[in-house]
Amino acid sequence: MARNFRTLDDMGEVTGKRVLVREDLNVPMADGAVTDDTRLRAAVQTVAELADKGAKVIVLAHFGRPKGQRNPEMSLALVTRPFEAVLGRPVRFIDDQDAAGVIATMAEGEVGILENTRFDAGEEKNAPETVDRLAALGDLYVNDAFSAAHRAHASTEGLAHKLPAFAGRQMEAELDALDKALGNPEHPVAAVVGGAKVSTKLDVLKHLVAQVDHLIIGGGMANTFLAARGVNVGKSLCEHDLTGTAEEILDAADKANCTVHLPYDVVVAKEFRANPPVRTVNVHEVAEDEMILDVGPAATEALADVLKTCRTLVWNGPLGAFETPPFDTATISLARTAAALTKEGSLVSVAGGGDTVAALNQAGVAGDFSFVSTAGGAFLEWMEGKALPGVAALQR
Ligand code: 3PG
Repeated sequence: MARNFRTLDDMGEVTGKRVLVREDLNVPMADGAVTDDTRLRAAVQTVAELADKGAKVIVLAHFGRPKGQRNPEMSLALVTRPFEAVLGRPVRFIDDQDAAGVIATMAEGEVGILENTRFDAGEEKNAPETVDRLAALGDLYVNDAFSAAHRAHASTEGLAHKLPAFAGRQMEAELDALDKALGNPEHPVAAVVGGAKVSTKLDVLKHLVAQVDHLIIGGGMANTFLAARGVNVGKSLCEHDLTGTAEEILDAADKANCTVHLPYDVVVAKEFRANPPVRTVNVHEVAEDEMILDVGPAATEALADVLKTCRTLVWNGPLGAFETPPFDTATISLARTAAALTKEGSLVSVAGGGDTVAALNQAGVAGDFSFVSTAGGAFLEWMEGKALPGVAALQR
């Protein structure tokens, strides 16, 4: 595959150079502890490789949404020790009040994290003064934060125009995987799109019908499509005002030869709580006081058969209300099928988005997918077919 971006392999000699590395260290924390260190682990490869090559590594990152104000609760000082533990070597916290002074004392191979880039109001505005201030701290720029690449901020976009710019290892892996999944995929391609609301994924669905051979719709949003097809969905979560839009998407899919798969049997309950009494019924048999909470076993098996005919799968969103048992059944079952097909070598499987990663972890198969993206918003924008500013700025 011809790549249109430069990577760490194209940087030349970095010994003694100051390399600004944009990572996504926006990790969830509770009581001062990081509760999911996936993003910290994702940053390790690039930072360690550059440090091993003798660069002075200055990590740039945001943390929360401080909106241009200093906020001690969103200081990256809080993430410095956890990152150090994951990296397995010392990491210095660089206060932005005297960043240049601290960086001047850094040794070759040393690693530092600069204070939250969003404490400067110019970061989110991609203000030229902020870009210049950051650019003065480094000789080279590496963007390793795909999950922040949908933001055109000074540290994610502006810097790429000021300093020689390269993709880090995580960014590189992400762009290669996404290219295999939707850029230049092997057909047939299937997409699973789930989640509660159609309204949050309209652009994703509109884009996908023209790209994929099979569109599998699950979650609460499938109810809106079922309603558009005249099914009575009872008390189910359903955006009735969007049935017209759902119909347009179904028509567009038809024209593009994309087969849309909606559940034909479903698991229903009268109450939404863990382990209530449930029924498995045909979609046409949902009672007025029932809600659809998962795809049924017959439809799940049929979906597994669809995946067996496909070469590529892109997955975003669970098929049912997966946080609440037993409504995680269809998601776990189909995820296991996808994982097994991937292991056999017949399927390239790429998944992303917050809930999706949690669902795959719950199914115990995240490690068996070809690639699981750490990105939330950026993954969705990519699925919508949008150019991500942080990626576009790296492309030659
Ligand atoms: C994320 O958590 O998805 C990224 O770090 C981007 O954060 P943001 O939505 O605050 O820009």
